[in-house]
Amino acid sequence: MKIVSVVGARPQFVKLAPIHKAALAAGVEHVIVHTGQHYDPMLSDVFFEDLGIGAPDVHLGVGSGSHGVQTGAMLAALDAVFDEHRPDWVLVYGDTNSTVAAALSAVKMHIPVAHLEAGLRSFNRRMPEEHNRVMTDHASDLLLAPTQVAVDHLATEGLAARTVLVGDVMTDVLFEVRDQVAGAPSVLLGELGLGSGEYYLATIHRAENTDDPARLREVAAGLAGLDKPVVLLAHPRVVAKAASHGIELTQGSLVARAPLAYADLIAAALSSAGVVTDSGGLQKEAFLLGVPCTTVRTETEWVETIQLGWNVLANSAEEIAAAVTRPHPNETDAAPYGDGHAAERVIQELIRAAGD
Ligand code: UD1
Repeated sequence: MKIVSVVGARPQFVKLAPIHKAALAAGVEHVIVHTGQHYDPMLSDVFFEDLGIGAPDVHLGVGSGSHGVQTGAMLAALDAVFDEHRPDWVLVYGDTNSTVAAALSAVKMHIPVAHLEAGLRSFNRRMPEEHNRVMTDHASDLLLAPTQVAVDHLATEGLAARTVLVGDVMTDVLFEVRDQVAGAPSVLLGELGLGSGEYYLATIHRAENTDDPARLREVAAGLAGLDKPVVLLAHPRVVAKAASHGIELTQGSLVARAPLAYADLIAAALSSAGVVTDSGGLQKEAFLLGVPCTTVRTETEWVETIQLGWNVLANSAEEIAAAVTRPHPNETDAAPYGDGHAAERVIQELIRAAGD
């Protein structure tokens, strides 16, 4: 059996790591295609190296561009790759432009497509990720859902027959890395002279928060006004947008620095007093690490984190301050994101479904 995984952006490399490991363990041939959507070493190479994935087999080198230009360049390049490999499955991950491009290319070539992290919905049709995930789900043959809520969304859209609940593969890798970094101090503590629990960790990169100058100014002011230092791990997108809007990312309590490698990120989140983010992955990672999260968005796909009290949505500077200083959430035994063995289930499901 042969699987071609198509990835391109930072969170997809994290999801790829446990899948690659599980594929090799099951004796499955696994070809990795990197679209090149993310190309900075700290957004790309560092994940392949640190998470033991090795180098991608194919690199399309597509790079940045408008949605149409970037997605179109991927589509144009993928036909030849799929034609050469003719896999049993094309596996696509999450909700980026790389996801929708690979799903569309494969479906048109009559190659079965499986969507990992299927069924997430924000119901916000302004988000590029929402277009990408809805289109990918409807194009795919097998929908690998991370949560029961995702399964329910797919059923509502008439896709129940193609859906399987496998759990969340980011949980697999997070549990492993959490155990590796346990007891090792975060690089941030030394670098910024901070103690454990003396800072908040922030990431802001989504188009909804970065592209409108008034919105980015409000978010930066909210973070700058917090009661402890806020370390912003600044994605190139927020750096570029802040520069073009004339907004300082180091002001008041706010200190911007480059993104961290995955293990350093987990260590930094673990030692923080709380996480403030618009990243989907980090909301869930904070929950799984037992760190309170504040999400700078009007909605989230990971509704379980909100229902269990570990995540609060905040949009204005006042809402951010109130959410960050709220009382510590109650401990919970709930495990809505699975048991840390989702990737093995994904590979077994692909083997089973290929035989149908
Ligand atoms: C993409 C995904 C988003 C995901 C995020 C994870 C889409 C539509 N968005 O957003 O869902 O949460 O990845 O990080 O697919 N840039 C660099 N270096 C890089 C990559 C990007 O400088 O290696 C800059 C460029 O200015 C580029 C901008 O960031 O134009 C945006 O990059 P892009 O890949 O379009 O989207 P992200 O914001 O990274």
